[in-house]
Amino acid sequence: MSKSEVFGWKLSNIITNKNYNFDREKILNVCGKNHIDDAFNVISNWDNYKSTPLIELKKLSKKLKLNNIFYKDESKRFHLKSFKALGGAYAVEKVTKGNKKITVSTATAGNHGRSVAWGAQKLNLNCKIFISEYVSEARANEMKKLGADVIRVKGNYEKSLEECIDKSKKNGWEIIQDVAWKNYETVPKLTMAGYSVMIKEISNQTDQYITHVFLQAGVGGMASGAIAGIAKYFKKIPKIIIVEPENADCVLKSIEKGSLQKINIKKESIMGGMSCGEVSLVPWKILKESVNNCTSVSDKNVAKTVAMLSKSQLSDEKIIGGECSTPGIISVIASCENLKTKKNLELNENSNVLLIGCEGDADEKLYEELLLKGVAELQNEKGY
Ligand SMILES: Cc1ncc(COP(=O)(O)O)c(C=O)c1O
Repeated sequence: MSKSEVFGWKLSNIITNKNYNFDREKILNVCGKNHIDDAFNVISNWDNYKSTPLIELKKLSKKLKLNNIFYKDESKRFHLKSFKALGGAYAVEKVTKGNKKITVSTATAGNHGRSVAWGAQKLNLNCKIFISEYVSEARANEMKKLGADVIRVKGNYEKSLEECIDKSKKNGWEIIQDVAWKNYETVPKLTMAGYSVMIKEISNQTDQYITHVFLQAGVGGMASGAIAGIAKYFKKIPKIIIVEPENADCVLKSIEKGSLQKINIKKESIMGGMSCGEVSLVPWKILKESVNNCTSVSDKNVAKTVAMLSKSQLSDEKIIGGECSTPGIISVIASCENLKTKKNLELNENSNVLLIGCEGDADEKLYEELLLKGVAELQNEKGY
């Protein structure tokens, strides 16, 4: 395999979807056309709403010999510092219609819960958030600051969700979950519709056609919400490439097999929000035929990428990008480093790549640690 020597980064895995068949109507019907229109109308009327920046990573596109790399900077999403602000808070508003008698609940890796807590606070509702033992205190505190009761559960995310469902049933709380299961699809559809607002904004922020989009996936809500936005708002359909942590590649494994596959996560990724073992049911209906390729990456270059964003090595401006903002960048770099992959993905001097910078320093402590580590790694590297 031939490769250029710019970064020396590698994908852990890449596959092509044999069942690719992008169908705008089908996608919009899964998410609900009305939800998509409504999400933008509602969210764009919230106080302090403004589009998050679409930044050109000019230094990186020059290095990789691509025409353009756009980075949607969700660190600036309200004051919540992640795209998740668009989903949970919107679902709280739609489901409760502001009825103060309703208590909302959710399980979360952090950002979704913060969005639900914020949505509940805006409407003066009680809010119960369930978190696993892996969610940092910093993230728990952010939710408490928004007035939520935060309940820590022993075990992983799945355990926190089980506990949330159990306690909510017993107490009559309204679950606002971004993950779907049997007979629980409306709320996840609302959160996805909320995420599609990012694509609506992008369609107004550039008149260049996007040729490739790299979408991070945990359970697939963000990716399928973005795809629904693409189906609705983009005139030309770009190549859609999923990126996941190598130890939590449930979308990749499911696309490879053509059916839902559950992953047993052996080691949690530093990209905590994406460390998910199972694709959510509603997103799967969209992802299975609309994704061109799936890639996975290790944690190895996460800190370095955080540092490169912060030190203006990829763009003219400094960008605050947390751990989950890095895999799209890592995947596009690694894809371009391998000339065969670059050719297969048709990444070339005419390509306009879109990356989603999902979060900023949503976990400030972890962000500082990663930044310090990344800066040290960059300094150790010769010739960078
Ligand atoms: C902070 C964060 N959490 C979670 C996710 C995963 O979203 P989902 O579980 O909807 O796929 C992402 C990005 O994919 C993210 O950036």
